[in-house]
Amino acid sequence: MIIVLLGPPGAGKGTQADRLAARLGIPKIATGDVLRAAVRDGTKRGKEAKGYMDRGDLVPDSVILGILQDVMNSPATAKGAILDGAVRTVPQAEGLGITLAEIGKKVNKVLLFDVDDDELVKRLGGRTVCEGCQTPYMGREPGATCEKCGGKLVRRKDDEPEAIRNRLEVYRTQTAPVIDWYNDHKMEVLKIDADGTVDEVTGRAVEALGREWHK
Ligand code: AP5
Repeated sequence: MIIVLLGPPGAGKGTQADRLAARLGIPKIATGDVLRAAVRDGTKRGKEAKGYMDRGDLVPDSVILGILQDVMNSPATAKGAILDGAVRTVPQAEGLGITLAEIGKKVNKVLLFDVDDDELVKRLGGRTVCEGCQTPYMGREPGATCEKCGGKLVRRKDDEPEAIRNRLEVYRTQTAPVIDWYNDHKMEVLKIDADGTVDEVTGRAVEALGREWHK
């Protein structure tokens, strides 16, 4: 099963992707995590992506489509994948569709996590992440220790106020049209109210997937 997660920055895509991946027994593929690892490792891809990411702009489609081709052709995703933030422009949605068709697959579900802007700004402004395993935390200061892997918590550069504002604008102008694109291509986008506790949101996502699954 290939599940695409859409939603603005801070909507909880990464948090929910981990939970859905564990539940469904398929890997989470987060292009943001792949790109941050490339930046850390100083690869060509990472060097190309860094400036865009720090400002909160989108990395060029060609880079993302290269990543999607690599991961979707890997044995790790043979049973499917949760694609977290991997589709943020219409050309990416089209390119992913072509890549999947070449290997006899398609997107099975699209979930849209919906939260209002005030809550998004609050979440991103208060977030720290583990520089090792990328787990996000609320209410923990940079320098604290990750409960999962013992790594150090840091503040992401794109969680500074100016970059947050830019990311929200980029979402509205470049990513929101992807919702219409999927609807136009007969792929219903399942909207999840992502305000509430993490458990509540997981419950809604699982329910939406289950309800649609048997249609
Ligand atoms: P990426 O890392 O994917 O960032 P994003 O989409 O902006 O999403 P976030 O990670 O900020 O938020 P999230 O929705 O995953 O929420 P989270 O679970 O962390 O991408 C970074 C950059 O990489 C992009 O700006 C771009 O430059 C580039 N990039 C990546 N993919 C790309 C693509 N396809 N095309 C082009 N460029 C691309 O939660 C946020 C916080 O809220 C956390 O602290 C969490 O603990 C907390 N939280 C989660 N759920 C709840 C809840 N229910 N209640 C309260 N708090 C909650």
